[in-house]
Amino acid sequence: MTPEELETFLGLRNSTVMATLNPDGSPHMTAVGYEYHDGIFSVSTTRDRVKYRNVAADKRVSLIIRGRLEEGGGETVVVVSGDARLSEDREEAVAMLRRLVDKSYSKDVADRLFEDRKDEPRVVISFRPKKTSAWLQIGRSALNCPTEETAMDFFEVVHTQRSIRRFKPDPVPDEAIWAMLDAAIRGPSGSNSQPWIWLVIRDDEKREIIARAVREHFEKTGRWEEMKSNLKSAEDPSRRRLLGRAIDFFGNVASAPVLIVPCLVRVTSPDTEPRSLLSGSSIYGAVQNMMLAARAQGLGTVLTTFNTFIEDELRSTFHLPDNAVPVCVVPVGYPDGQRFGPTTRKPVDTVTYWDDWGATASRPS
Ligand SMILES: Cc1cc2nc3c(=O)[nH]c(=O)nc-3n(C[C@H](O)[C@H](O)[C@H](O)COP(=O)(O)O)c2cc1C
Repeated sequence: MTPEELETFLGLRNSTVMATLNPDGSPHMTAVGYEYHDGIFSVSTTRDRVKYRNVAADKRVSLIIRGRLEEGGGETVVVVSGDARLSEDREEAVAMLRRLVDKSYSKDVADRLFEDRKDEPRVVISFRPKKTSAWLQIGRSALNCPTEETAMDFFEVVHTQRSIRRFKPDPVPDEAIWAMLDAAIRGPSGSNSQPWIWLVIRDDEKREIIARAVREHFEKTGRWEEMKSNLKSAEDPSRRRLLGRAIDFFGNVASAPVLIVPCLVRVTSPDTEPRSLLSGSSIYGAVQNMMLAARAQGLGTVLTTFNTFIEDELRSTFHLPDNAVPVCVVPVGYPDGQRFGPTTRKPVDTVTYWDDWGATASRPS
């Protein structure tokens, strides 16, 4: 199910149940109202409810949502599952309660419900879906609806993984970083030499050292002025957007809550010179795996090469040995006001030759 399909489905929903796990492993199901914003589902509840106690003990949670995949389409059940986070921020929970009752009831009923409930010990349960499954019930949407588990389709991940340069300050769970790195190390390398170390930088001060070094470099070399004048003269709106975001991002690379610096270490195959194009082939495939794994978890990334401007600072701040060479810097975080794909690319049949240079073929539709 694509993010757009999920959005449509949520717009046409008509009931929702939250499932949590009781201590004996049986499911606890209860009707809820929820909010969905930037890929995160949130529910306002109280500390004395079973669902709150359950997720405090076992964070696995699902929403079972009945609705439609398209206007006039048949009924479908979608289950979104993930790991819950609890926020004890009462103010946030009360504000959410207000929005939920306003959305669901007439003004009089909403006011009364809000008055009745606002003083309860309210909390927010939120989660980002790790898995989305859809089940068909009846109707026309049978034609399009995926009927099997659709954690996130591989091709959907590939087609929507695009450069993200604006990040929310929300922390990235370590578990998500491990999953990215575990995907990275599945990448290819000459003779399976795996000549890499993945330096993960979360520390605020250290990210700030990097951000400062980048700013200083841009100021010293006049790159700011150059980028700003490129922005001014750019006519294509997507290039303007790219340049605008790049300027913002380079102004504060610490705005990404995590920076990952993949390093080639003791590279032996297919080349021994770590700065050669051939050596890069033993790590950049792994970097792309890492970025795809980020996208599959709703995390944004962008491959940057500003490591080349600030290599001295990277070496001294993180004590890199001489035989380690940073090959790029990949900022990681939840996108802020930027959506994932689809990406802009030349059509595949215009960049493909078959059996002889220049021999194109059109792709059957
Ligand atoms: C070798 C390489 C270097 C890149 N360097 C930067 C960079 O320094 N800063 C940046 O914002 N994007 C950088 N990018 C990202 C590209 O701008 C981006 O992949 C390209 O415009 C396609 O956009 P998309 O990923 O959103 O489809 C780099 C990409 C590659 C492959």
